[in-house]
Amino acid sequence: MDKRVIDVACGSKMFWFDKHNPDVEFCDNRTVPYHEYYPHRYIEVSPDTVCDFTALPFEDDSFKLVVFDPPHLTWAGDTSWTALKYGCLKGDWEEMLRKGFSECFRVLDPDGVLVFKWSEVQIPLKKILPLSPYPPLFGHRSGKNMNTHWLCFMKPKEALKDGK
Ligand SMILES: C[S@@+](CC[C@H](N)C(=O)[O-])C[C@H]1O[C@@H](n2cnc3c(N)ncnc32)[C@H](O)[C@@H]1O
Repeated sequence: MDKRVIDVACGSKMFWFDKHNPDVEFCDNRTVPYHEYYPHRYIEVSPDTVCDFTALPFEDDSFKLVVFDPPHLTWAGDTSWTALKYGCLKGDWEEMLRKGFSECFRVLDPDGVLVFKWSEVQIPLKKILPLSPYPPLFGHRSGKNMNTHWLCFMKPKEALKDGK
């Protein structure tokens, strides 16, 4: 893989300045054709690779930077704008996020950086952090209610195998 960056749950790539950056492998487990639901509110999920972040189809140590912004809601109307745009956590979502973290660190280069975004509108961050094999280095809150966390992790030199 010659790209240095991977976004494992890119959705509509809302936070990307360049949504076609050739140095980024955009991934999601779905595709959604462009559709404007309300004026200026659209959804388009068009990843380079359709895959599951619990089983990424990339070799170990492949990327310098991994971006992980998984769904953060356990409930939202099935046809609601929020569910369509950001997806919902279903079933054993804790195990899903644990495997997601493990896969993010597996595909990271040694010393690579993981940026993780979590919006704690329904689930507090303190329930999510134990699902990562390593603790974050630092973080920052944003948003009107300051409930969106941006966290930075670094893969340790002696990374655990399989995140265990
Ligand atoms: C919070 S949204 C990402 C929003 C995106 N960062 C943006 O800027 O628009 C979460 C995305 O994760 C995707 N997703 C959910 N479960 C997934 C999985 N197991 N593997 C890959 N993607 C998944 C959803 O389809 C959704 O697009």
